[in-house]
Amino acid sequence: MKIELINTQEIKKEFELELIIVNKMKQLNGKDKNELEILGFSSKENQSIFLNNRLFIGCNKLKDEDLKIAISNAIRIIKKTKYKTIFFSLICNAKELDISKIVEGLVLGGYSFNKYKKSTKNEQTNFFIDIKGTIQTKAFLEKELKNSLTISKSVNLVRDIINTTPEDYYPKTMAKTAKKIAKNNGLECRVYGENYLKKSKMNAMLAVGRASPHKSQLIHLIYKPSNAKGKIVLVGKGLTYDSGGLSLKSGAGMVSMKCDKSGGSAVLGVMNSLKDLACEYEVHGIVGAVENMIGADAFKPDDVLVARNGVSIEVRNTDAEGRLVLADCLCYAQDKIKKIDYIFDLATLTGACIVGLGEYTTGVMGHSEKLKKKLNKASQKSGELVGFLPYNRYLTQMINSQIADISNSASSRMGGAITASLFLDHFIKKENKNKWLHLDIAGAAYREKSWGYNTYGATGAGVRLMLEFIKLESLKK
Ligand code: BES
Ligand code: ZN
Ligand code: ZN
Repeated sequence: MKIELINTQEIKKEFELELIIVNKMKQLNGKDKNELEILGFSSKENQSIFLNNRLFIGCNKLKDEDLKIAISNAIRIIKKTKYKTIFFSLICNAKELDISKIVEGLVLGGYSFNKYKKSTKNEQTNFFIDIKGTIQTKAFLEKELKNSLTISKSVNLVRDIINTTPEDYYPKTMAKTAKKIAKNNGLECRVYGENYLKKSKMNAMLAVGRASPHKSQLIHLIYKPSNAKGKIVLVGKGLTYDSGGLSLKSGAGMVSMKCDKSGGSAVLGVMNSLKDLACEYEVHGIVGAVENMIGADAFKPDDVLVARNGVSIEVRNTDAEGRLVLADCLCYAQDKIKKIDYIFDLATLTGACIVGLGEYTTGVMGHSEKLKKKLNKASQKSGELVGFLPYNRYLTQMINSQIADISNSASSRMGGAITASLFLDHFIKKENKNKWLHLDIAGAAYREKSWGYNTYGATGAGVRLMLEFIKLESLKK
């Protein structure tokens, strides 16, 4: 898909199709209004109609999520037609165009994953967005276009990674992607195998990958601008497949567990955007890429594992593996990176989070109310939904163990998203307690249906949220 800005006041051009987003019927000319009303069209969301070579799409509000969803509805309809050059104008008197919302609607809504389908001819669609009448300069709008294309393309890259099967995408593949991203963006890239993990006492992470023929990989990407404003660390759960291990998932529960690499993939997606966005922060992306399988060598319920920071963990459920991988990765990150400003971990960590917040919302947990407020702002700006889940002293006790420092599985399933986060808290250094947030993206990252501008499968959750957070921080100082 190609997206260009044009000013119809200056240039006349031929188009095959005109896309018209309708927010209020009265904004249409009388003839169109009458005709559309006779045909039953209204300006509500999900309304669409072709009138000759014009496509009318209903839209509740000409901003934010409403605009993105309306545009994603449009692109999905257009993709089924033969139209290839599309002229796009908003029907309103808006003096400002929100290019990023339009681009996200087009690029994210127009995404489809066809890797495993018979080859389909993929002709390029060209979109021309009319900037006539806006008070913004062309240069400003071009920059907005470039930045939002960078972000949306990274989201789609992440979706491609997650949607790829565990047969084709395993820890070493993830490391390969990281290297490619590093090369394209001038990042430093360190990839460590199991010998390093052994040497570094990352036994919790190592145990999870033990029964897999695919060797675990620790990935560390670094983006370092000159005169960085601060340091942000992102740690991602990269379970390229989660069978549950010996605490095996049910048949149905295993379907879609290729999505368990979503946190790590989102971290890669963020790292893929920073250079093009001219990010002013030093950003570290750390991914624990592991496959959780069964076999004679599998780690077991009853095992006690000692993590990198010396905390011993009683394994009571091998399906609570993400927290074991993250435990070591969080320790690694804080040992290697000093003077951290913010540290986030992203993980498809618990089914309980989906039960608690619903399918679309990322669960956010941590100690600092101030930091949660900041993240909430990024959520509102980016459109990625978040909900905050509170700690308390009683839940804290639920991961106590009789034989080790802590247990990897709480004594009750209730509040499972929170107890998982309280487990991770044991691996956050004192000085970083208020700099850390845990993001459980189990619901938001992958759905076997389409919702809003998300298509079936991976959504790329976390990428826009984190990039928006970094952007807001950059504006602040
Ligand atoms: N990867 C799963 C969590 C998950 C569930 C992600 C559904 C996406 C969709 C995780 O490793 C897991 O299995 N968690 C267990 C934890 C339990 C054993 C304490 C869960 O949620 O049941
Ligand atoms: Zn699991
Ligand atoms: Zn998992």
